[in-house]
Amino acid sequence: MEVILRPTREAAEALAARLIAEQVRAKPDSVLGLATGGTMERVYAELVRLHVEEELDFSLVRTFNLDEYVGLPGDHVCSYRYYMDQHLFRGINIDSRNTHLPNGVAEDLAAECRAYEEAITRCGGIDLQLLGIGKSGHIGFNEPLSALRSRTREKALSPVTMAQNAGYFSQYGPMPQRGLTMGVGTILDARDILLLVTGEAKADVLARAVEGPVTSMISASALQLHAHCRVIVDEAAATQLSEQEYYRWIFDHEPEWEPYR
Ligand code: PGA
Repeated sequence: MEVILRPTREAAEALAARLIAEQVRAKPDSVLGLATGGTMERVYAELVRLHVEEELDFSLVRTFNLDEYVGLPGDHVCSYRYYMDQHLFRGINIDSRNTHLPNGVAEDLAAECRAYEEAITRCGGIDLQLLGIGKSGHIGFNEPLSALRSRTREKALSPVTMAQNAGYFSQYGPMPQRGLTMGVGTILDARDILLLVTGEAKADVLARAVEGPVTSMISASALQLHAHCRVIVDEAAATQLSEQEYYRWIFDHEPEWEPYR
């Protein structure tokens, strides 16, 4: 892992957007793995700005999102399809046929999950996967005890995740208790990974994911097994990391990573 400490949330978000833009410029038909959540809203706003003001071209890009709620159709305001359309897809020149999320209202959810894995494979695999982390330590909806080799599947949401996301459903409830999610193994197959973590509410779980042991209790800790995982954090999220000085030092000494072409 390479931990990249930025002074502010805005700087961390801007860096994440810049690295995604670099990937798209290096390989215009990139396959991007995308995430939802509050953390990503301004990253997507910045990508929309780069599209409008700097002609960042998404016409050939393909995307696969991490997860979706079971039981929510794509036009439900709390669905992740709706989130992606609002925050990113309708603001850029992406072909909607190239945007993929698991279908949470599929008749046969197990078949939907298998088809999702096959679609990723048919596209040649994910070049760059963007991730946030939940307070449960999840990436996607890979809640505690998710197998480190798991693939896309239906998953019950943990009480921590139910509490974390309940606010979004206050006027639109009830909140689904299950999701479809890429597995930890699916995520680890991406060629490059960007984990973006901001705010002091994530400081404890971030330290456990980055500096703690690899454990299925914190599925983000599995990213320690990945060969190209960059962890972009702001100072507020970094407060519980014991090796902050080292991360600052190594950032100035490591060579820059090239986007996958
Ligand atoms: P957040 O969610 O960005 O809304 O904090 C991240 C997650 O739960 O993975």
